[in-house]
Amino acid sequence: MGYEKLQEAAQTIAELSGRDRHEAALVLGSGLGDYAASLPDAVAIPYTEIPHFPTPKVEGHSGTLYSIDVEGKGALVFSGRVHFYEGWDLFDVVFGVRSAALAGCHTFLLTNASGGVSRGLSVGDLVALADHINLTGRNPLIGANDDRLGTRFPDVSDAYSGELRHLMKLSFEAADVPYKEGVYTWFTGPSYETPAEIEMVRRIGGDLVGMSTVPEAVALAHMGRRVGAISLVTNLAAGTSDEPVTHEEVQEAAALAKAKFTLLIDSLLPRLVVADS
Ligand code: HPA
Repeated sequence: MGYEKLQEAAQTIAELSGRDRHEAALVLGSGLGDYAASLPDAVAIPYTEIPHFPTPKVEGHSGTLYSIDVEGKGALVFSGRVHFYEGWDLFDVVFGVRSAALAGCHTFLLTNASGGVSRGLSVGDLVALADHINLTGRNPLIGANDDRLGTRFPDVSDAYSGELRHLMKLSFEAADVPYKEGVYTWFTGPSYETPAEIEMVRRIGGDLVGMSTVPEAVALAHMGRRVGAISLVTNLAAGTSDEPVTHEEVQEAAALAKAKFTLLIDSLLPRLVVADS
């Protein structure tokens, strides 16, 4: 049963980290995994040591879970995530965050790399997600509902917590990063979008496009957890500039944003481990 697998993983996280409980979790997106290297006194747990944990297959994701101390509280940092386009079931895609939730986490910060769609966005911008549009027709909650995780028909109208967006705004200001919000549109990938698809996204109100985050946000909303998400614009979406979109460009833009991203997350983590503000 899925729930028992999640419990086993959560228990192993507690055992290997030496902490009974973690309060918050951070998921590092494409090219942002390096943030983990800057963490002092982190306990590193390779995903391969956690039962049932799927391990990423894409370049730029190393597959290590870090347990860290943030002002006396435990936090988990996921360096490496699995994507639907690798062929995983959505159950596996959301396995890590669900097990972190069972390990105690009430607050999650999901990060990702995205293509910028709306005209005000530039490469290198960090954007807090205000909402999402799921264009894949897939949902991690499809299948029998396990009431221990959440209700059959969860409300997702505050999937990206307004309260956390307020905290993010404070941290953006502290890190001297202009605060922006946007709507993230989920495509499965792995092909990037066509110019016509991007024009559609623009017309239906999407600001960003990407291949992750939405399944995790939905699974966590189902579990009643508080979610914030930050997207790094690594390229202008297809058809928005004359250049083709490449994975190398995505990695490069992420590397360039490293210092800014680190400052922002360093300011944000202490705010996330506090249950309610
Ligand atoms: N499209 C989809 N996913 C992405 C993009 C993009 O342009 N850039 C980074 N991830």
